[in-house]
Amino acid sequence: MLDRVSCGDLPAKAHTALRGAGDVLRHEECFTRAAFDGPYTIVYHEHRPHVLYPQETPPVVSSSPEPSSTIARGWTLPVPTPPSLVKRHFETGKLSRAAQPPLGAREPMLSSGQLTIGISNPSMTDPIYWSNADADELYFIHEGGGVLRSPLGDVRFEAGDYLYVPKTMVRRFVLGDGQNQRWLVIESTDAIRLPKAFRNEVGQLRMDAPYSHRDFRRPVFAGPVDEGIRNYVVKRQGAFFSMRFAESPLDVVGWDGSVYPFVLPISKFEPRVGAVHLPPSTHLTFETTDAAICSFVPRPLDFYPDAVPCPYPHSSVDIDEVLYYVSGDFTSRRGVGPGSISYHPAGIPHGPHPDAYENSVGAKETSELAVMIDARTPLTVCDGALRVEDPGYDQSFSGGAPRKTS
Ligand SMILES: [Fe+2]
Repeated sequence: MLDRVSCGDLPAKAHTALRGAGDVLRHEECFTRAAFDGPYTIVYHEHRPHVLYPQETPPVVSSSPEPSSTIARGWTLPVPTPPSLVKRHFETGKLSRAAQPPLGAREPMLSSGQLTIGISNPSMTDPIYWSNADADELYFIHEGGGVLRSPLGDVRFEAGDYLYVPKTMVRRFVLGDGQNQRWLVIESTDAIRLPKAFRNEVGQLRMDAPYSHRDFRRPVFAGPVDEGIRNYVVKRQGAFFSMRFAESPLDVVGWDGSVYPFVLPISKFEPRVGAVHLPPSTHLTFETTDAAICSFVPRPLDFYPDAVPCPYPHSSVDIDEVLYYVSGDFTSRRGVGPGSISYHPAGIPHGPHPDAYENSVGAKETSELAVMIDARTPLTVCDGALRVEDPGYDQSFSGGAPRKTS
């Protein structure tokens, strides 16, 4: 939730009659968070938005190569693995590209139930509308681009963007022509929000926040749309439910409010630089009650004499730490590359590779680009991650010959 947006036709006062051509009454829909206590958006439809007909078979998911497992897994149910308190590395670039639209393409990597981190490599546009009634979603677009189509308008996204989609927002991804899509997907059953500390007393982003209101891309609203699509799939409690809308869900004449999908390009994040190494919390970008999502972007490094820019070994005892590597030269790690996920569970210390600590002294800048997720609830490794695990990662911290850098 960012700030209030107002588009299209609205009555002068909420919950009063809005009439269109022929004096036809519009239908108000209040899209609310935290029951009626949180942020909300009020949408005005040409037709009654709550007329839906249950269907037996999810039309898209059932056409996937493995419909039963896709439905049963519902993206988020991890396969428990034997306890293994070690540092882990998953090479997500080795995941096969899904011959599926975004609705069916998701592969969970790590999950606490509350928070699920996955990869989506879709290859085709969603042919129907869908929504995730379990979680807010934050996509990081590593490669690709397109348009997120919603009743509130289109949001364009491209490589390097964070794309936020609220829980239960009707959507359809229209993928860019000829583009490989590689997305990191963060699902949170708690609201994903801009950190409260970034706001002043009237809710505006503070002048010392790492981004400003102008840095965000909001939906472009063009009035009622009928794409001729009525099929709709809702994910709820890990299962998919199929239904049909009586009318186009994009039959919106106007809306205002603070709940809507948006984009924040990671390039707009303003990094902090200190005389000595600043803690990862300096890179905080989004938060939930259970997690912190941080952006590591290219920046100058520490300038105090003899400062060690490489992260100090640490035991962050309450946090499972996940890093998704996008590009650049990551100063503390070897053997990781674009698409790598490192997972360092709480309970054991972690830190730089053997020579990275020494080699970092005197470094003036870093080109690293990465997304970090700190999870307070312990994560479980999912079967998709096991298929692309680098088995030598944990022992690579003990020294010896340098590992191949990909
Ligand atoms: Fe760490």
